[in-house]
Amino acid sequence: VDEPRKTAVSLSTRLVTTRLVLRAPKVTDVPELRLVMRKNAEHLRPFSPAHPPGEDPGSLTGLSTMVARQRREWRHDRRFSFVMTMRDPEAPIIGRVSLNNIVRGAFLNADLGYWIDESFQKRGLMTEGVRAVLAFAFDELGLHRVQAAIMPHNLASLRVVEKLGFRREGEAAAYLRIAGKWEDHILFAILAGEKPAATP
Ligand SMILES: CC(C)(COP(=O)(O)OP(=O)(O)OC[C@H]1O[C@@H](n2cnc3c(N)ncnc32)[C@H](O)[C@@H]1OP(=O)(O)O)[C@@H](O)C(=O)NCCC(=O)NCCS
Repeated sequence: VDEPRKTAVSLSTRLVTTRLVLRAPKVTDVPELRLVMRKNAEHLRPFSPAHPPGEDPGSLTGLSTMVARQRREWRHDRRFSFVMTMRDPEAPIIGRVSLNNIVRGAFLNADLGYWIDESFQKRGLMTEGVRAVLAFAFDELGLHRVQAAIMPHNLASLRVVEKLGFRREGEAAAYLRIAGKWEDHILFAILAGEKPAATP
């Protein structure tokens, strides 16, 4: 049985790493989210679900709805979707890391998702951000398993989970509909007892 949790995790939770801060999105983030998502539209399109025709998820209305939904899902223990910034208090949003589709009961599992601004890639930042979110998933949420599904040609993302010590579990045919096409994915997972690998 998927019982509701007794203690909700505060929406003001901040995960602070050497270089990054990760926190829940706020309504006041919407203009900034719009900028970073527009700037990265081409970078993210090959890895994102296509949006329904007529809907613009990058519009102020679409993003406000998304932020409100994500804050509701956070309160209800369904999804913990972080925005990521550098540690400078004035620093803009440069990416996101999300624990999606949380199932408790006998599964205690989440699906991991992430992206970073194109110009911040290849500095180890996403590996650092995901490492902090894994610690949160296991130590704060009490999850047992975090899963990642990655397309075989997404070499940067494959490398992120490899660096963190995820195990390759297998191949899933036509697993997610990405950019309008059902794509094969490789499934990876890490368990609570398997500490993420130390920073290389
Ligand atoms: C995947 C992604 C989040 C990685 O972010 P990042 O901050 O660059 O990640 P890191 O720097 O922590 O690690 C990336 C690793 O991949 C490697 N890499 C990057 N591009 C690569 C490429 N084209 N081929 C092979 N390796 C590549 C980097 O060298 C680095 O490995 P290293 O530390 O051994 O040198 C980023 O590329 C992104 O946002 N991609 C688009 C969205 C996406 O794919 N999301 C995940 C969907 S499953």
